[in-house]
Amino acid sequence: MTTPRPAILIARAVFPEVEHKLRQHFEVESTPPGVFWSPAQLAEKLQGKTGAMTTGGERVDAALLAACPQLKIAANIAVGYNNFDLPAMTAAGVLGTNTPDVLTETTADFGFALLMATARRVSESEHFLRAGQWKEWSLDLFAGVEVHGSTLGILGMGRIGQAIARRGAHGFGMNVIYHNRSRLDADKEAACKARYVSKDELFAQADHVVLVLPYTPTAYHTVGAAEIARMKPSATLINIARGGIVDEDALVAALRERRIAAAGLDVFEGEPQVNPGLLSVPNVVLTPHIASATIPTRTAMAMLAADNLIAYLTEGRALTPLNPQVIAP
Ligand code: GLV
Repeated sequence: MTTPRPAILIARAVFPEVEHKLRQHFEVESTPPGVFWSPAQLAEKLQGKTGAMTTGGERVDAALLAACPQLKIAANIAVGYNNFDLPAMTAAGVLGTNTPDVLTETTADFGFALLMATARRVSESEHFLRAGQWKEWSLDLFAGVEVHGSTLGILGMGRIGQAIARRGAHGFGMNVIYHNRSRLDADKEAACKARYVSKDELFAQADHVVLVLPYTPTAYHTVGAAEIARMKPSATLINIARGGIVDEDALVAALRERRIAAAGLDVFEGEPQVNPGLLSVPNVVLTPHIASATIPTRTAMAMLAADNLIAYLTEGRALTPLNPQVIAP
């Protein structure tokens, strides 16, 4: 008699090669492209499944865990995991995994792209051109703020923050300052030519503030009216972390009144819904959570999530566990 293969759910459509790999090990229920499950539908789909491949759009919380007692692992296709209630998962004996490292450089590239598009008014000027409004060239036409040689302030100096710092320091001759929960060791600071400052100093001194911190409950509205008020009127704010880190209403007011020059946002509180205020101001570049979106990187992320499912459900180990105490209590 052969033992039945574990059953898993791929909760959001993945690339065919990823699904093919999973089908070699599991009974797989996949999700068609363009289909997104509500929490109730997700719980129903997970009945009888021991593994789930999730994205930031699927919440794995106490309610879902109570409804899906067979679940053993949720493998997130993301480095962030604020969609996981990790204490509840640990209490239920469910392993969570994420996808660090494979997206670091690609995400840093995008952080820099968003910074440059924001500082140099790329989207705003393209909309102007496409709308047929370009009649004459003038010296101050869409004049932006300087990138090279300016001060880059990075809030959250993990792997992605350091990769952005290296680009700024070595590629653009920027003066890099950062604030983080803990200060980097001297070697890492030297590699990205970065100087540690307080959070207040960072907001006051930076020409470009880039947010790359993890979204924990204490990070909610880390950037509100008070932080924005400290920024230079010529400064930009770039968020590639999570939407809830910024008080969007305070940001809209500051952008509308030109108390800061511009913002670039890849993430939104309540995404895919976007605060209507943000849609109504011109000096903000808005992108739909695509910082890690290249085909090679998204494939590597999905493959790492697949490898975590395979390793855990077939051999009881994981490559990038978030709560390893579930494996070795
Ligand atoms: C994307 O936002 C991620 O956390 O990987």
